[in-house]
Amino acid sequence: MAGVSEEELRTVRFEPEMIPVCARIYLDVYTNEPWNETVESAEAVERFFRRHAAGGEFIGYALLSGGRPAGFAIGFAKPWIRGVEFYLDELCLAREFQRRGFGSRFMAEIRADLKKRGLNGILLNTSRRCPSFRFYRKLGFEPFEKLVVMGVEF
Ligand SMILES: CC(C)(COP(=O)(O)OP(=O)(O)OC[C@H]1O[C@@H](n2cnc3c(N)ncnc32)[C@H](O)[C@@H]1OP(=O)(O)O)[C@@H](O)C(=O)NCCC(=O)NCCS
Repeated sequence: MAGVSEEELRTVRFEPEMIPVCARIYLDVYTNEPWNETVESAEAVERFFRRHAAGGEFIGYALLSGGRPAGFAIGFAKPWIRGVEFYLDELCLAREFQRRGFGSRFMAEIRADLKKRGLNGILLNTSRRCPSFRFYRKLGFEPFEKLVVMGVEF
């Protein structure tokens, strides 16, 4: 678009009433090159924005042994374009509980509960060099080969 001047641009905090316009931008950008994504409907995109705007929900589980936590899984509900997924930020079993099949069982139970709560995926970061990479692969997780995790500290 011609004639956008620097002075008329400003950054403000996102407000829910901006959702319809932003959802249209999303649709226009991601259904075209180079993404060419198929998006279910404009309503699905608006729902995705509304879920983000409603704020993140903490989701956590503990694996109890004799009533005491022997491990935990913590993260939050993260909207994605086809629903809500569990962003699993930390999964850890106490050392004496590792490599005995308990982690696999814990994840299966977590997955069943997430399904009951209406979530439809799990997303996480891990290192290819960590033992947990094999663990997650065994549970059916697929690496997103082309994605890279990026961050900056300030
Ligand atoms: C990763 C973790 C949750 C896995 O739970 P677990 O109960 O130890 O795993 P399971 O016994 O269910 O293992 C299932 C499979 O995962 C793989 N695996 C799990 N831990 C592994 C390890 N330390 N080294 C190699 N493979 C491993 C194996 O393929 C294993 O199958 P096998 O025992 O038939 O070989 C647990 O070991 C843990 O808390 N580790 C420390 C913290 C950590 O790495 N967290 C994840 C960071 S993203």
